[in-house]
Amino acid sequence: MSLPKPKQVNIDLYEGGTSEFKNLRSPLKLSANESALGPSPSVMEIFNQNLNLKQYPDGNSKNLKDIISKTFGLDKDRLIIGAGSDEIISLISQCFLSEGDEVIVAEESFLMYRIYSQINGAKVKYAKNINNKFSVDETVKLVCNKTKIVFIANPNNPTGTYIADKEMLKLRKNLPDNILLMVDDAYAEYVTKKDYKSGLEIFNNSSNTFVCRTFSKIYGLANLRLGWGFGPKEIVEAVNFFRPPFNISGIAEKAGCEALKDKNWLVKNIEHNNKWSKIIYDKVITKNIKTNEPVANFFLLNFDNAKHNEKEAYKIFSENNILLRKMNSYGINNSLRLTIGNEEANNKFLDILEKNF
Ligand SMILES: Cc1ncc(COP(=O)(O)O)c(C=O)c1O
Repeated sequence: MSLPKPKQVNIDLYEGGTSEFKNLRSPLKLSANESALGPSPSVMEIFNQNLNLKQYPDGNSKNLKDIISKTFGLDKDRLIIGAGSDEIISLISQCFLSEGDEVIVAEESFLMYRIYSQINGAKVKYAKNINNKFSVDETVKLVCNKTKIVFIANPNNPTGTYIADKEMLKLRKNLPDNILLMVDDAYAEYVTKKDYKSGLEIFNNSSNTFVCRTFSKIYGLANLRLGWGFGPKEIVEAVNFFRPPFNISGIAEKAGCEALKDKNWLVKNIEHNNKWSKIIYDKVITKNIKTNEPVANFFLLNFDNAKHNEKEAYKIFSENNILLRKMNSYGINNSLRLTIGNEEANNKFLDILEKNF
């Protein structure tokens, strides 16, 4: 018997932040940039309602689009809903990329841009980050007539850095108009910097920029898989052909609606993040661990000048029930990524840091 031959893709598969560790029971997971406080209590009430599980969901996610449109002042026809922003990135890649095309990503950036680009046959070019930050000049240098998409996360994962609104506008201005700029706003809600504007704010009227957002981070719904994209109407329509008809469960849609309604919960999360990111940053740098200034809900910790290297640090924290994210798959040396957790997890992290570094 000879089965059809699967397509060969020569890529490293994505590895998420670890949830478990040998011999650890319920570890404190600070490895996947998940929400510190979890979903809004009003989202949790959905699960006490009579859920109609036998019926297919609304394949057009009308209720969620209505609320997104109202909350952010966006045209409904320019929205697309995905099973996580991950699916939006995948759909954009399927829609625009083929063999012979090129994309540009920052060398230290979210791995799914390169993975989906390669799955769809495109070659990935890597722009150097300068001082751990996305560089417009390094990116523009790599443009050629095969370039179809430039991906940027702002703030960037895993470096935890951001570029100012002026830089983002410079990027768009310096890219040829026929290149799609894909701006990933996954951590936008956390940012309180005055010179920052989210992709959604900057490009609400652009004809060649696409923005994606997620409910997995500040809204605490990573498990339900919910995200969305906003872009030019023709692009949204084109991408929609690649979207499975019922990609979002009805429960996820309801949860997204409730999450957006609860503005107080959003504020509470931002306040929690501001408070703890400052406390953690101040402590971490006294231990000669280099890191980014607080911007999103995580830090990239570099151990070059610290008492322990990354391997030792990982071991110390995991032996104390705390999981951090290894950076090997990102090719970043001697570093771990730390997510800001709830009060208990943060205090535990600080305590172990104090005792061991
Ligand atoms: C920059 C960035 N974009 C997108 C995602 C994916 O999020 P989602 O859960 O919406 O697929 C992540 C997840 O870590 C991320 O860091």
